[in-house]
Amino acid sequence: MMKRLIAAMPEDIEPARRLEAETGLPLAEIGVHKFPDGESLVRAPAAAETVFLYCSLNDPNGKLVDLGLAASALREAGAKRLVLIAPYLCYMRQDKAFHPGEAVAQRFIGALLAQWFDRVITVEPHLHRTKTLTAIMPGIESSALPAAELLAALIRRDGEVAADILVVGPDAESQSWTSSVAAAAGAAFMILAKHRSGDRDVSILAQETENIAGKHVYLVDDIVSTGATLSAAASLLKRYGAARIDALVVHALFNKADEKRMLEAGIASIRSTDTVAHETNAIEISPLLAAIVEKDEA
Ligand code: R5P
Repeated sequence: MMKRLIAAMPEDIEPARRLEAETGLPLAEIGVHKFPDGESLVRAPAAAETVFLYCSLNDPNGKLVDLGLAASALREAGAKRLVLIAPYLCYMRQDKAFHPGEAVAQRFIGALLAQWFDRVITVEPHLHRTKTLTAIMPGIESSALPAAELLAALIRRDGEVAADILVVGPDAESQSWTSSVAAAAGAAFMILAKHRSGDRDVSILAQETENIAGKHVYLVDDIVSTGATLSAAASLLKRYGAARIDALVVHALFNKADEKRMLEAGIASIRSTDTVAHETNAIEISPLLAAIVEKDEA
């Protein structure tokens, strides 16, 4: 049996090809046939002792069932070790019951993946109250790859003088990646305060406003879903005199209408990593993934 193989869910074949090119490992596509009643027939095309199964978990509800079936098919085919590569890890924001009776989705998803896989590799998971992936997936290996250096590379590529730049995170939860991006870009940073009262109802406040005027602001966030957070942040930054605002995002989940609203709020450009396939993708995570796949040991 082959030693190591990358397998990809059909929607992930393009980014998996980039990982294939970086690592030189063989790649096979998982077969998924949709029956007329909506159920799936999932086939493992090949197996290996270690299989890296590529499946980014944006829009996750349907994907999760196919992923579980793929893991099961690979085990049936003889895989001894299954490593999930999920560049975007879903349901991490629901890390507690915010109201009585709510499911703690983060814990549920962690336990589910820990049953199917021996290791989970992801990029910049939304860890806030829970500090580590191990706490969510006890008993298996897990790796959270930081994306700050990738976002900082985009800033450097723009060639702006660091003193003219202000890296801004829209809420307290963004403190860790905002400060890392700023440090890697050699620029100053500022964290805003957010209050969310609904899916698309967000207000943003700034405690210190005197450093905003005239600055080229890089607004950074891990996840952009409706764009309400970045739109509210951009309106505030414009009000305080930001010269230009560009957004840098790790996981782009937003649609065209939400993108239009963000641009209307004063954001000049939105660029993202390719953890989720999106028109705004500007930087690839395959070198980051390849480095960890190459070091992976059973
Ligand atoms: C929240 O805690 C995250 O870091 C993002 O700020 C949030 O998910 C963005 O959501 P939206 O684009 O819907 O405002």
